[in-house]
Amino acid sequence: MSTRLQREIEKRRTFAIISHPDAGKTTITEKLLLYGGAIQVAGAVKSRKADRAARSDFMEMEQQRGISVSTAVMSFEYGNQAMNLLDTPGHNDFSEDTYRTLTAVDSVLMVIDSTKGVEAQTRKLLDVCKLKKTPVITMMNKLDLEGMEPLDLIDNLEKELGVECVPMTWPIGKGKEFKGVYDLRSKEVHFYLSHRQDRKNELEKIDLYSEKAEALIGISEVAKLREEIEMVRELTPDMDLRRFNSGEITPVFFGSALNNFGVQTVLEAFGEIAPAPGPREAASRIVEPDEEKFTGFVFKIQANMDRNHRDRMAFIRICSGVFNRGMTLRHVRTGKDSIIRNALTFMARNRNLVETAYPGDIIGIPNHGTIRIGDTFTEGEDVRITGVPSFAPELFRRARLRDPMKAKALGKGLTEVCEEGAAQLFRPLSGSDYIIGALGELQFQVIASRLLNEYRVDASFEGIPRNVCRWVIADDETKQAIIKRYERDLFYDNSQNLCILSDNLFRCNQIADKFPDARLSKIMEIQ
Ligand code: G4P
Repeated sequence: MSTRLQREIEKRRTFAIISHPDAGKTTITEKLLLYGGAIQVAGAVKSRKADRAARSDFMEMEQQRGISVSTAVMSFEYGNQAMNLLDTPGHNDFSEDTYRTLTAVDSVLMVIDSTKGVEAQTRKLLDVCKLKKTPVITMMNKLDLEGMEPLDLIDNLEKELGVECVPMTWPIGKGKEFKGVYDLRSKEVHFYLSHRQDRKNELEKIDLYSEKAEALIGISEVAKLREEIEMVRELTPDMDLRRFNSGEITPVFFGSALNNFGVQTVLEAFGEIAPAPGPREAASRIVEPDEEKFTGFVFKIQANMDRNHRDRMAFIRICSGVFNRGMTLRHVRTGKDSIIRNALTFMARNRNLVETAYPGDIIGIPNHGTIRIGDTFTEGEDVRITGVPSFAPELFRRARLRDPMKAKALGKGLTEVCEEGAAQLFRPLSGSDYIIGALGELQFQVIASRLLNEYRVDASFEGIPRNVCRWVIADDETKQAIIKRYERDLFYDNSQNLCILSDNLFRCNQIADKFPDARLSKIMEIQ
């Protein structure tokens, strides 16, 4: 094991931000970049207003795309640390993409709107983190507004999400009286001297029991804060790294992303307590990050990154070894070896050719559709990294062509667009329809527009009486028996996995009862 590699691994923190829409994910992303020195002035990454408009207007979203996708990965340095912040789409309809991004990170920042507490989308996303035992750091945001009391917020999070909270900071006042935070670890008051939203704020660190604290915060406020801190210390458990790493407890920070309060403390926490890249499960063995040979897997495919090229970008999370420009990598699924000269890294808005990259880093490989989500790349070993999931869609539509002569182009377009992973393509065992399954309505608009623009295919989507999808996990013999009996309800997905699409759960339960050797799953690991 090379100590250089070990050092590079220990420096890295690869994480994503999860939140319910509007809790402040975009704002905090921007402020982390500001404190990480990747941008000098906040407001530069993307216009939140434009982003919001795009949510209801797909074409506008397409126009925004050039900006927003370039921030799919944001790498920056903070102190000695190399941070890789993976962006996740804010819109509910893209949640599958978000879920898969979570397979590529080592930790997560969960942002909660302190005026609302835990919301639906937070719950769903945290469930995925729990499944993967991903360590989660929590930021209670918008403390500058009159939100819930801090202890009530902690209580709400513990009850709603079933994770024990360990406060790391405590707010000093809230709403208009929000003045800063008390750092429970260093036992210092972080008092903000300036109140800028677009630039870093100066803060002064002072002793809670000093006269200065009384002068700056006010005698009665300080007395109240001291009492609160005593109580918090008594009521909450100690920070235990082992329990944090297994997702049992979450350290909680308070702040206001908009006002740059508490953001730096969160960033420092990633350096101090979030884990460096760890081992990854593969089909045949565990891949350790400090193995000399390269392995990585594809967790996201993005088309249209460059308007001048029809290339797609495959985002690879490096799991072990070192990537060097010009090295030969094996695409394990196809068995093909290629020299990789054009891999890219991402630094805020800029993309650069990668010379060297390490475990935890994300590199982008442009390709013409040969690479799929879940694919593994190695230096020759036939090992397959596992755990990249596909989630059962909840909405199903049949593709209808306006011009029947375009059937071939429709097939090609649907296959390619669905390979990017935002929707799934199903073919019935009997019949020739293309069925698209997605988690949100917006996907169908996106696909129709892309078919028209990129494949010159005018297609529409019509509803079908199916709303439940389950993959059939069974040996070949059991599968054949199921096919014989239920052919009309069976489909193949884009990777030729057998699944049931039904109009009700009853049919699925019926099949499960009749074939106890088969497992019907809502989640399919991409092969
Ligand atoms: P999202 O990505 O999670 O969807 O949320 P986003 O950052 O876009 O924030 C949603 C709204 O909440 C924005 O206001 C944003 O300015 C505001 N916000 C974020 N952090 C804080 C905070 O700490 N305090 C307060 N008071 N507001 C915060 P908006 O008016 O809807 O949009 P905009 O006009 O600011 O773009």
